[in-house]
Amino acid sequence: RSRPATVTVTGAAGQIGYATVFRAAAGDLLGPDTPIRLHLLELPQARRAAEGTALELQDGAFPLLEGVEVFDDADAAFDGSSVGLLIGARPRSQGMERADLLQANAGIFSVQGRAVNRGAAEDFRAVVVGNPANTNAYIAASHAPDVPRERFTALTRLDHHRAVAQLAEATGARVAEIRGVAIWGNHSASQYPDLTHATVAGRPALEVLAERGLGLDWVDGTFIPRVAGRGAEIIDVRGGSSVASAAHAALSHVRDWVLGTPADTWTSMAVPSDGSYGVPEGLVSSFPVVCRDGRAGIVPDLALDEFSRTRLERSVRELEEEREAVQRLGLLGPRR
Ligand code: NAI
Repeated sequence: RSRPATVTVTGAAGQIGYATVFRAAAGDLLGPDTPIRLHLLELPQARRAAEGTALELQDGAFPLLEGVEVFDDADAAFDGSSVGLLIGARPRSQGMERADLLQANAGIFSVQGRAVNRGAAEDFRAVVVGNPANTNAYIAASHAPDVPRERFTALTRLDHHRAVAQLAEATGARVAEIRGVAIWGNHSASQYPDLTHATVAGRPALEVLAERGLGLDWVDGTFIPRVAGRGAEIIDVRGGSSVASAAHAALSHVRDWVLGTPADTWTSMAVPSDGSYGVPEGLVSSFPVVCRDGRAGIVPDLALDEFSRTRLERSVRELEEEREAVQRLGLLGPRR
């Protein structure tokens, strides 16, 4: 049994926060050998709801849960923190312009980035779930110049899971037989879910699909829009946004990052680019990644065909636009 890790969950009283903390306490975040202390960060008006969640966590009598504290102050909530699940964000309200959304969220993520810089543990790492997730992660990192940039990541694992599940359904395979799916770019409608390196039971996915009469037109016209638009589909059918699936993805993201990805495949994470695949350095973009020894490395040297390149460039352009917008608004911190 290792030392307890402090896990800070922002937006802890929100839907995804509520769905995440119980599984984290049950060991689904850092595995069965690491006890955790939960720091629940909420807005003052939702503090009481978070305190209620803390009572319920107590009622879970989780052997791995060594304590729960509730905060409405970011500095206190990130003090000594090793893992940040940055879920709380300002949702887009009706009629809200994109610049307003970026500005409202930059306010939140700059405060949290500074709090991390001030007091988080040496091994701190964060996944940003709150949208616009990639740019929020970029903003937080810019305000935490003493923390390695690569510790600020954003969630595209839900998109990755959606792509794996759609491929399994289309090919009649089991999820466990799918490897090599990748999500590139922004966690937005512009994302590129890529099947060109995917395999189904060891065979190229595109070949297996073609045998079933599903060609590139299916990939382009059905698969990609289905994955990229799945959030809207869930809202339409369920009457509410994705919650438990998002919580599951966030837990899987951190767990694989800390404990490692399976030996024979990769996953997708939005990480600061090292310049790979023409993505400008520092932009938080989704890539196929392999995690070892607590580090997420972008899978190198994949051949991208022209279609893939065009799709990736389109999404990266959107990320650059978001970065320029926050730059123009003067919302970035000392690290560039
Ligand atoms: P929610 O509205 O139920 O919960 C958000 C919570 O965050 C609220 O309780 C709110 O009080 C809190 N909050 C807001 N600002 C805060 C701050 N500065 N500090 C601490 N807490 C704060 O929303 P839900 O459904 O839990 O979704 C959370 C976010 O996750 C949204 O931005 C949503 O768009 C995003 N999302 C991202 C996905 C991804 O794959 N990256 C998938 C699904 C949702």
